[in-house]
Amino acid sequence: MLSRTINVLSVLSAVMLTSSIVFALPDASTVTDVRYTVHNLSNNTLITDGLAGEGRNYAASSSGQADQVCVFCHTPHNASPSKPLWNKAYTPGIESSYRLYTSSKTLTPTAKAATITANSESMICLSCHDGKTAINVLHNSSYRDNTDVNGDAIVDIDGTFSGSGAFALGQQWSGGFTSYNYPNLGAERSADGSIPTLAASLAGTNLTDDHPIGFSYTAAQAQDAAGLKASPDTGIRLFGPTNRVECSSCHNPHVYYGSGLAGSTRVYFDTDITTPLVATATQKAKTPFLSISNTGSNLCKGCHIK
Ligand code: HEC
Ligand code: HEC
Ligand code: HEC
Ligand code: HEC
Repeated sequence: MLSRTINVLSVLSAVMLTSSIVFALPDASTVTDVRYTVHNLSNNTLITDGLAGEGRNYAASSSGQADQVCVFCHTPHNASPSKPLWNKAYTPGIESSYRLYTSSKTLTPTAKAATITANSESMICLSCHDGKTAINVLHNSSYRDNTDVNGDAIVDIDGTFSGSGAFALGQQWSGGFTSYNYPNLGAERSADGSIPTLAASLAGTNLTDDHPIGFSYTAAQAQDAAGLKASPDTGIRLFGPTNRVECSSCHNPHVYYGSGLAGSTRVYFDTDITTPLVATATQKAKTPFLSISNTGSNLCKGCHIK
């Protein structure tokens, strides 16, 4: 058995010696890896950099199994709601509290009637990005630093906040958001786009200043054939039997784009971080988590005739 292993190894190394490609790092253009993005909320150190921090603002601080990546969004079992195997604590009825972009006079009747349901794809994004739902409360987790009133697991997240309580993205507020885009989309913003108070940061329901979601693209397109392409460009996704526009029409929450965030600064891994991963121009054009490149507004023009 041992000699057979050695034989296999020597054949392998002969192959490797004749083909240096075997030793090369994976071609960057083939990397689609959520582990090297800010959506890696685990405690692992796949993204590290002595100078600029971790290149992501939030990471679990627990030891042990908190090194899982998918678990912050999916679970293989006992998911709630079931699609797409969600693992976030769900507040019943929260979907009807979100106010969507529906009041614009120039929208089609279909887009004006937009709604999201408990099973809309956008709900998993909003279960962190509304700003008020905790990012670190998991429905089904074999590790926990604490347990909330519903029996769901609280995983300690370090960064700006510590302790074993629930942590929402809106809690980042520290006296006025004026310098850059914050990811808590449900915040109540002032006219200049800043967030005036902690309560406004945590408001969690205001999507009236965000691109419309939660309606059938096909039905809207039929009402505005001059303004919308018959089918969106390849790579833009529509959801469910009626082809709904959701967050993930424009975004892909798993896609690798070669950068992370260190506070208000974007950290490019190929220049700043001592990881072997570099990103191609094609990958960088998908910043932040875009489904297709938005260079020259390519993404927008993938649906809009403008
Ligand atoms: C930040 C949240 C998040 C993380 C982390 C995440 N996913 Fe997902 N995943 C989603 C969402 C949202 C969808 C729904 C479809 C979409 O938006 O792409 C999805 C869909 C999927 C799907 C089905 C549809 C598809 O796009 O292929 C698979 C399979 C999947 N995820 C696997 C994984 C695995 C494996 C990991 C960990 C390596 C992971 N996901 C990590 C959010 C996440
Ligand atoms: C488990 C919580 C969680 C879920 C679910 C989640 N995100 Fe995120 N997302 C984050 C965190 C944390 C950040 C980093 C925020 C920061 O650094 O301030 C982030 C950042 C982002 C960014 C900005 C990235 C950048 O580099 O600037 C985008 C865009 C984004 N998410 C889109 C989505 C979309 C779309 C979905 C659903 C398909 C989604 N997220 C689901 C936690 C989540
Ligand atoms: C019509 C396309 C589209 C839809 C739909 C969309 N986004 Fe985005 N989103 C973008 C683009 C493009 C950017 C990058 C903006 C920039 O860099 O100026 C972005 C940026 C973001 C950011 C980074 C912070 C910010 O405010 O710029 C987050 C977080 C985010 N999106 C989450 C979401 C979530 C959650 C949803 C669903 C509720 C969603 N997006 C729906 C296109 C879209
Ligand atoms: C998935 C296809 C799709 C993509 C990609 C997309 N949009 Fe849209 N957008 C729509 C649809 C459908 C509507 C609703 C149109 C209607 O009802 O008249 C809409 C509505 C809008 C509106 C509101 C129009 C109004 O009458 O108030 C604006 C502005 C807009 N989009 C800009 C953008 C920008 C900017 C981008 C790129 C960041 C983008 N869209 C990407 C499909 C898309």
